[in-house]
Amino acid sequence: MQTESQDVNVKINEKPSYTYPIFIGENLIGNAQAYIEKYTSAKKLLVVTNKTIIDLYPNSLNLKNAEYIILEDGEQYKNFETYKLILEKAQELKLERKDALIAFGGGVIGDITGFCAATYLRGIDFVQIPTTLLAQVDSSVGGKVAINTEFGKNLIGAFYQPKFVLADTSVLKTLDNRQFKTGLSEVIKYAFIEKTAKCDYGFLEFLTKNVESIKQRDNKTLKELIKICCEIKAKVVNEDEKEAGLRAILNFGHTYAHAIEKVTNYTHFTHGEAVAIGMRFAFDLAKKLNTISADYYNEAISLLAKYALTYVLPSGIKKEDLIEAMSFDKKVLDNKVRFILPIGRAAVKITSGTRPEEICN
Ligand SMILES: NC(=O)c1ccc[n+]([C@@H]2O[C@H](COP(=O)([O-])OP(=O)(O)OC[C@H]3O[C@@H](n4cnc5c(N)ncnc54)[C@H](O)[C@@H]3O)[C@@H](O)[C@H]2O)c1
Ligand SMILES: [Zn+2]
Repeated sequence: MQTESQDVNVKINEKPSYTYPIFIGENLIGNAQAYIEKYTSAKKLLVVTNKTIIDLYPNSLNLKNAEYIILEDGEQYKNFETYKLILEKAQELKLERKDALIAFGGGVIGDITGFCAATYLRGIDFVQIPTTLLAQVDSSVGGKVAINTEFGKNLIGAFYQPKFVLADTSVLKTLDNRQFKTGLSEVIKYAFIEKTAKCDYGFLEFLTKNVESIKQRDNKTLKELIKICCEIKAKVVNEDEKEAGLRAILNFGHTYAHAIEKVTNYTHFTHGEAVAIGMRFAFDLAKKLNTISADYYNEAISLLAKYALTYVLPSGIKKEDLIEAMSFDKKVLDNKVRFILPIGRAAVKITSGTRPEEICN
């Protein structure tokens, strides 16, 4: 079996510096064994996945020497108990430092598997096979891994990079429409921050031109789209792995989104839906503050509409609730929020020292 040449190379400049490849394309997962042999020296593999994915893709990975742990499906299982279950399974199988954990699933699976890999024996090899659009363009890139606790989401975690990422566009065909759109919201986010990330793919034009083929999940268009997103994220992460500065631009739309998710108890909107509202809100604020032209404002709002990413807040949500929720965000320091504001076409600026009340006006 042959492996393709990499599509994106992620470089992490932190010391010691580290590089890993991302492979993107149609029907890649059946070839997972060849990639694993090339990029790890694992003898034993533990694949972490969930019931939904394994029902859809029972033997698709075609792996030799792999054991599976099949979790319940849902964000609520990204917790301590599951973490313990996976580690116990790794111990039972006597996985050694050189063996590997394989995350086969969406962001939930990727985050929890990565955190297990980071901590089991103080770190064993880890491979990401992301199966949602969100995981392929966002959570599998950049090395943030985590679990949720009763105190909040993703508060216990690590920065831990995989050996490689295998993003197969074919598996996106089985995603339901809502999950696909959730990923698209993060995709569009990259178009709005592209220039600040010092990239120049003309991603806004790409997304405007290819609405139909993207919605139809055309493999070739998706490959191009995922590649651009990964490159933008990789560029930002390369400059700032631990979020000392620039990485904050990836949170465009997120300050508000996190507050919305919190006040609606994480049940009303998916993350991407909340991000779409958050981006809309950031554009409204930018228009009001005169930091962008009317033309760009209209272009941005109509792009969200083209992908049907227009949502309204449920009635009954008060401004005060959103302000309070923002004050508890883990990115808040001294009750000042770091807000990402559009300041030009495909460009944003990190504003710090903003009080939640100012943003919500
Ligand atoms: N580490 C990071 O940098 C980062 C970034 C963004 C989000 N996240 C995390 O990612 C998680 C969200 O990820 P997600 O949106 O992928 O959600 P998810 O992992 O819950 O997947 C969404 C749903 O799609 C199903 N699914 C997965 N692949 C499928 C396929 N190919 N066909 C059909 N159904 C499929 C899943 O079983 C699940 O029901 C959150 O926990 C979030 O905190 C992490
Ligand atoms: Zn997000």
